[in-house]
Amino acid sequence: MEDRLIFDARYLVGIGQIDREHQKLFELADKIYDCLVVDVIVPMKEIRAAITELIEYTKIHFANEEQLMRSSDYPDLEEHRGLHAYLISRIEDFEKSVERGEQVTPVDAYEFLCEWLGDHIRDKDKNFGEYSSHREEQGSGVRP
Ligand SMILES: [Fe+2]
Repeated sequence: MEDRLIFDARYLVGIGQIDREHQKLFELADKIYDCLVVDVIVPMKEIRAAITELIEYTKIHFANEEQLMRSSDYPDLEEHRGLHAYLISRIEDFEKSVERGEQVTPVDAYEFLCEWLGDHIRDKDKNFGEYSSHREEQGSGVRP
């Protein structure tokens, strides 16, 4: 079982909008974590609602992030879009399982989140933050 994810400075990308959206993703992940650790049995409905909420917000966030990358001519946009597409396909697998009424374990969902929030944000999204601050030094960065 993974430890609870805590949003701290390691996850800051340095772009206000992205950092706020990432923080919101952590909050949604936290709801899933809560389903895992409570002593009483959490109703399946609640777990599904937490996963669905996360899926919906993830899609919005990825679209926003890609839009910011596009508007700042980020050279790794296509590669990054590919990573997002992969993550979305994994999330949609969860979604399909939820829709089919299958037993979606919050542990699976949470492990996926740890992998994504842990590695993707700290590595790939940070690269964009660095690119953006570099551009800002040159007068054309993204600071929404
Ligand atoms: Fe990303």
